[in-house]
Amino acid sequence: MDVIIRPTAAEAEELTARMIADAINAKPEFRLGLATGATMENVYANLSKMNKAGKVDFSQVRTWNLDEYVGLPPEHDQSYRYYMNKNLFNNINIDIRNTHLPDGMAADEVAEAERYDDSIEEAGGIDLWLVGIGCSGHVGFNDPGTSFSSRTHVAYLTNTTYEQNKIYFNPPESMPRRAFTAGVGTVLDAKKVVQLITGKRKAGIAAAAIEGPMTAMISSSALQLHPDTVVILDAEAAAQLKLRDFYDEVFMNDPKWEAYR
Ligand code: GLP
Repeated sequence: MDVIIRPTAAEAEELTARMIADAINAKPEFRLGLATGATMENVYANLSKMNKAGKVDFSQVRTWNLDEYVGLPPEHDQSYRYYMNKNLFNNINIDIRNTHLPDGMAADEVAEAERYDDSIEEAGGIDLWLVGIGCSGHVGFNDPGTSFSSRTHVAYLTNTTYEQNKIYFNPPESMPRRAFTAGVGTVLDAKKVVQLITGKRKAGIAAAAIEGPMTAMISSSALQLHPDTVVILDAEAAAQLKLRDFYDEVFMNDPKWEAYR
């Protein structure tokens, strides 16, 4: 696991966008895994800007998102389809037919979850999955207790996640308690994982996930098993990391990070 700390959230977001753009430029038929949440908004703004400036081309890129609320149609302003269209897809030269999220309105949830996993597999797997972290330590909606080998499924959300996300709903209580999520195993199958963590409210969970013991109680800690994960943090989110000085030393001296310093 590589850990990169940038002084500010803006710098962490910019670096994350650059890393994704570089990966796409190296392989135009890219299969990109995406995430939602406030953390990602500026990453998508950066990518949109780079696309407009001709620095990255999405015309052949296919995307799969981590999750979607059960019961929300695409036009609901809190659906993740709505978020993705607004924050990224409408602003770049992607073919919208190449963008995938689980269908929150699917009548058969088990079949929908299976279809989603199959679509990733048929495409040849995800090249890079961009993920965040929830306050419960989740990636996607894999709340505490989710198996590291889980595939896409419908999850009942914990109170921590409900409290974190319900503020976006009007009224807050209308937030669905269930959501489709790619499984921890689905994410671990990606060739590369880039995780972005910003803000001081994530400092405790970031340290536990990155440096603590691996446990299904913190699904993000499963990324310790992944052979190619880069975690990018701002200084606030990195505040409780024990090896912080070491991560900085590696970033400043290892030739593999030269383009990003
Ligand atoms: C939601 C999403 C996660 C995301 C998390 C963090 O729960 N399902 O994929 O990582 O929010 O959100 P934020 O970036 O707003 O802290």
